[in-house]
Amino acid sequence: MAFTIAVDGPAASGKGTISKALARQLGYAHLDTGLLYRAVGRQVLDGADPLAAAQALTAEALDDPSLRTPEVAQAASKVAVLGDVRAALVDFQRAFARRDGGAVLDGRDIGTVICPEAEAKLYVIASAEVRAERRFKELTGKGIETTLETVLADVRARDERDMGRAEAPLKPAEDAVHIDTTAMDIEAAIAAALGAVRARQEAR
Ligand code: DC
Repeated sequence: MAFTIAVDGPAASGKGTISKALARQLGYAHLDTGLLYRAVGRQVLDGADPLAAAQALTAEALDDPSLRTPEVAQAASKVAVLGDVRAALVDFQRAFARRDGGAVLDGRDIGTVICPEAEAKLYVIASAEVRAERRFKELTGKGIETTLETVLADVRARDERDMGRAEAPLKPAEDAVHIDTTAMDIEAAIAAALGAVRARQEAR
Protein backbone atom coordinates (compact mmCIF):
# COMPACT_ATOMS: atom_id res chain seq x y z
CA MET A 1 0.00 0.00 0.00
CA ALA A 2 1.27 3.50 -0.76
CA PHE A 3 1.59 6.13 1.97
CA THR A 4 3.32 9.37 1.01
CA ILE A 5 4.94 11.74 3.48
CA ALA A 6 5.71 15.15 1.98
CA VAL A 7 8.36 17.18 3.83
CA ASP A 8 8.94 20.72 2.61
CA GLY A 9 10.99 23.60 3.94
CA PRO A 10 13.88 25.98 3.27
CA ALA A 11 17.57 25.08 3.05
CA ALA A 12 19.09 23.61 6.25
CA SER A 13 15.79 23.63 8.15
CA GLY A 14 16.36 20.02 9.22
CA LYS A 15 13.96 18.52 6.67
CA GLY A 16 16.58 16.15 5.23
CA THR A 17 17.60 14.73 8.60
CA ILE A 18 13.96 14.44 9.67
CA SER A 19 13.02 12.72 6.40
CA LYS A 20 15.83 10.19 6.65
CA ALA A 21 14.88 9.39 10.25
CA LEU A 22 11.18 9.01 9.35
CA ALA A 23 12.04 6.67 6.49
CA ARG A 24 14.31 4.57 8.69
CA GLN A 25 11.83 4.30 11.57
CA LEU A 26 8.85 3.53 9.35
CA GLY A 27 10.69 1.33 6.85
CA TYR A 28 9.77 3.68 3.98
CA ALA A 29 11.86 4.67 0.94
CA HIS A 30 13.32 8.21 0.95
CA LEU A 31 13.92 10.64 -1.91
CA ASP A 32 15.79 13.92 -1.38
CA THR A 33 14.28 15.79 -4.34
CA GLY A 34 16.84 18.61 -3.96
CA LEU A 35 19.34 16.15 -5.44
CA LEU A 36 17.42 16.16 -8.73
CA TYR A 37 17.84 19.94 -9.04
CA ARG A 38 21.43 19.71 -7.80
CA ALA A 39 22.26 17.07 -10.43
CA VAL A 40 20.84 19.35 -13.15
CA GLY A 41 22.64 22.39 -11.66
CA ARG A 42 25.91 20.45 -11.57
CA GLN A 43 25.64 19.68 -15.29
CA VAL A 44 24.70 23.26 -16.14
CA LEU A 45 27.89 24.43 -14.36
CA ASP A 46 29.70 22.08 -16.74
CA GLY A 47 28.03 23.75 -19.74
CA ALA A 48 24.95 21.54 -20.32
CA ASP A 49 21.54 22.80 -21.36
CA PRO A 50 19.21 22.72 -18.29
CA LEU A 51 16.23 21.03 -19.97
CA ALA A 52 18.39 18.44 -21.76
CA ALA A 53 20.13 17.67 -18.44
CA ALA A 54 16.77 17.27 -16.64
CA GLN A 55 15.37 15.00 -19.36
CA ALA A 56 18.46 12.76 -19.35
CA LEU A 57 18.72 12.50 -15.55
CA THR A 58 19.28 9.02 -14.11
CA ALA A 59 18.95 7.77 -10.52
CA GLU A 60 22.71 6.99 -10.46
CA ALA A 61 23.54 10.68 -11.01
CA LEU A 62 22.04 11.41 -7.56
CA ASP A 63 24.85 9.57 -5.73
CA ASP A 64 27.56 12.02 -6.82
CA PRO A 65 29.11 13.53 -3.62
CA SER A 66 30.02 16.73 -5.51
CA LEU A 67 26.29 17.63 -5.48
CA ARG A 68 26.64 18.75 -1.82
CA THR A 69 28.75 21.88 -2.42
CA PRO A 70 27.44 25.48 -1.96
CA GLU A 71 28.23 26.24 -5.62
CA VAL A 72 25.98 23.40 -6.79
CA ALA A 73 23.27 24.43 -4.29
CA GLN A 74 23.07 27.90 -5.87
CA ALA A 75 23.10 26.41 -9.39
CA ALA A 76 20.26 24.08 -8.32
CA SER A 77 18.21 26.97 -7.00
CA LYS A 78 18.72 28.79 -10.34
CA VAL A 79 17.66 25.89 -12.58
CA ALA A 80 14.71 25.28 -10.23
CA VAL A 81 13.01 28.50 -11.42
CA LEU A 82 12.67 27.02 -14.94
CA GLY A 83 9.20 25.59 -15.53
CA ASP A 84 10.30 23.13 -18.22
CA VAL A 85 13.03 21.72 -15.96
CA ARG A 86 10.51 21.27 -13.11
CA ALA A 87 8.01 19.61 -15.46
CA ALA A 88 10.66 17.15 -16.69
CA LEU A 89 11.25 15.98 -13.10
CA VAL A 90 7.60 15.47 -12.06
CA ASP A 91 6.97 11.89 -13.25
CA PHE A 92 10.03 10.45 -11.52
CA GLN A 93 9.00 12.04 -8.21
CA ARG A 94 5.35 10.97 -8.45
CA ALA A 95 6.25 7.39 -9.31
CA PHE A 96 8.60 7.30 -6.32
CA ALA A 97 5.90 8.74 -4.05
CA ARG A 98 3.30 6.12 -4.95
CA ARG A 99 5.53 3.05 -4.67
CA ASP A 100 4.28 0.25 -2.47
CA GLY A 101 5.54 0.25 1.08
CA GLY A 102 5.53 4.00 1.73
CA ALA A 103 7.74 6.92 0.71
CA VAL A 104 9.14 10.09 2.25
CA LEU A 105 9.98 12.90 -0.19
CA ASP A 106 11.63 16.12 0.92
CA GLY A 107 11.90 19.31 -1.08
CA ARG A 108 10.13 22.62 -1.63
CA ASP A 109 6.92 21.77 -3.53
CA ILE A 110 6.14 18.18 -2.53
CA GLY A 111 2.97 18.89 -0.52
CA THR A 112 1.78 21.64 -2.87
CA VAL A 113 2.58 20.45 -6.43
CA ILE A 114 4.20 17.00 -6.63
CA CYS A 115 1.98 15.18 -4.11
CA PRO A 116 -0.99 17.34 -3.16
CA GLU A 117 -2.75 14.10 -2.12
CA ALA A 118 0.06 13.02 0.25
CA GLU A 119 -1.27 11.26 3.34
CA ALA A 120 0.97 13.33 5.64
CA LYS A 121 2.56 16.74 5.05
CA LEU A 122 5.17 18.51 7.14
CA TYR A 123 6.54 22.02 6.74
CA VAL A 124 9.87 22.34 8.52
CA ILE A 125 11.26 25.81 9.26
CA ALA A 126 13.96 27.48 11.39
CA SER A 127 15.38 30.99 11.57
CA ALA A 128 17.87 31.90 8.81
CA GLU A 129 20.61 32.46 11.44
CA VAL A 130 20.19 28.99 12.98
CA ARG A 131 20.04 27.37 9.53
CA ALA A 132 23.23 29.17 8.46
CA GLU A 133 25.02 27.99 11.63
CA ARG A 134 23.99 24.37 10.97
CA ARG A 135 25.07 24.52 7.34
CA PHE A 136 28.35 26.26 8.29
CA LYS A 137 29.20 23.43 10.73
CA GLU A 138 28.26 20.81 8.14
CA LEU A 139 30.42 22.39 5.41
CA THR A 140 33.47 23.05 7.60
CA GLY A 141 33.12 19.51 8.99
CA LYS A 142 33.53 18.28 5.42
CA GLY A 143 36.65 20.40 4.98
CA ILE A 144 34.95 23.06 2.81
CA GLU A 145 36.39 26.49 3.69
CA THR A 146 33.82 29.24 4.14
CA THR A 147 32.60 31.85 6.65
CA LEU A 148 29.35 32.08 8.60
CA GLU A 149 28.56 35.38 6.81
CA THR A 150 28.95 33.75 3.39
CA VAL A 151 26.73 30.84 4.37
CA LEU A 152 24.05 33.17 5.81
CA ALA A 153 24.09 35.25 2.60
CA ASP A 154 23.76 32.03 0.54
CA VAL A 155 20.85 30.79 2.67
CA ARG A 156 19.04 34.14 2.31
CA ALA A 157 19.65 34.31 -1.47
CA ARG A 158 18.31 30.79 -1.90
CA ASP A 159 15.27 31.47 0.34
CA GLU A 160 14.42 34.52 -1.73
CA ARG A 161 14.74 32.68 -5.04
CA ASP A 162 12.94 29.54 -3.86
CA MET A 163 10.04 31.46 -2.27
CA GLY A 164 9.79 34.21 -4.87
CA ARG A 165 9.69 32.19 -8.09
CA ALA A 166 6.52 31.92 -10.18
CA GLU A 167 6.64 28.11 -10.63
CA ALA A 168 6.00 25.97 -7.54
CA PRO A 169 7.40 28.45 -4.99
CA LEU A 170 8.33 27.22 -1.53
CA LYS A 171 5.27 27.65 0.68
CA PRO A 172 3.37 25.46 3.14
CA ALA A 173 0.49 23.32 1.90
CA GLU A 174 -2.73 24.36 3.64
CA ASP A 175 -2.93 21.04 5.47
CA ALA A 176 0.76 20.79 6.43
CA VAL A 177 1.83 20.39 10.05
CA HIS A 178 4.41 23.11 10.81
CA ILE A 179 7.54 22.17 12.76
CA ASP A 180 9.81 25.04 13.83
CA THR A 181 13.20 23.52 14.64
CA THR A 182 14.91 26.82 15.63
CA ALA A 183 15.07 25.86 19.33
CA MET A 184 14.87 22.08 18.92
CA ASP A 185 17.64 19.53 18.89
CA ILE A 186 17.45 16.86 16.23
CA GLU A 187 15.88 14.24 18.52
CA ALA A 188 13.05 16.63 19.44
CA ALA A 189 12.47 17.53 15.79
CA ILE A 190 12.31 13.85 14.78
CA ALA A 191 9.92 13.09 17.65
CA ALA A 192 7.64 15.96 16.59
CA ALA A 193 7.64 14.76 12.99
CA LEU A 194 7.01 11.14 13.92
CA GLY A 195 4.14 12.21 16.20
CA ALA A 196 2.52 14.19 13.39
CA VAL A 197 2.86 11.27 10.93
CA ARG A 198 1.50 8.71 13.41
CA ALA A 199 -1.53 10.95 14.02
CA ARG A 200 -2.20 10.94 10.27
CA GLN A 201 -1.75 7.16 10.05
CA GLU A 202 -4.20 6.60 12.91
CA ALA A 203 -6.73 8.96 11.34
CA ARG A 204 -7.02 6.73 8.27
O1 DC B 1 16.97 20.79 -0.69
P1 DC B 1 18.23 21.32 -1.39
O2 DC B 1 18.89 22.42 -0.60
O3 DC B 1 19.18 20.24 -1.76
O4 DC B 1 17.70 21.96 -2.77
C1 DC B 1 18.54 22.60 -3.71
C2 DC B 1 17.72 23.58 -4.55
O5 DC B 1 16.83 22.84 -5.41
C3 DC B 1 16.82 24.52 -3.77
O6 DC B 1 17.46 25.73 -3.44
C4 DC B 1 15.63 24.72 -4.67
C5 DC B 1 15.58 23.49 -5.52
N1 DC B 1 14.49 22.55 -5.16
C6 DC B 1 13.24 22.80 -5.66
O7 DC B 1 13.04 23.82 -6.31
N2 DC B 1 12.21 21.92 -5.43
C7 DC B 1 12.41 20.83 -4.69
N3 DC B 1 11.39 19.97 -4.50
C8 DC B 1 13.69 20.57 -4.14
C9 DC B 1 14.72 21.46 -4.37
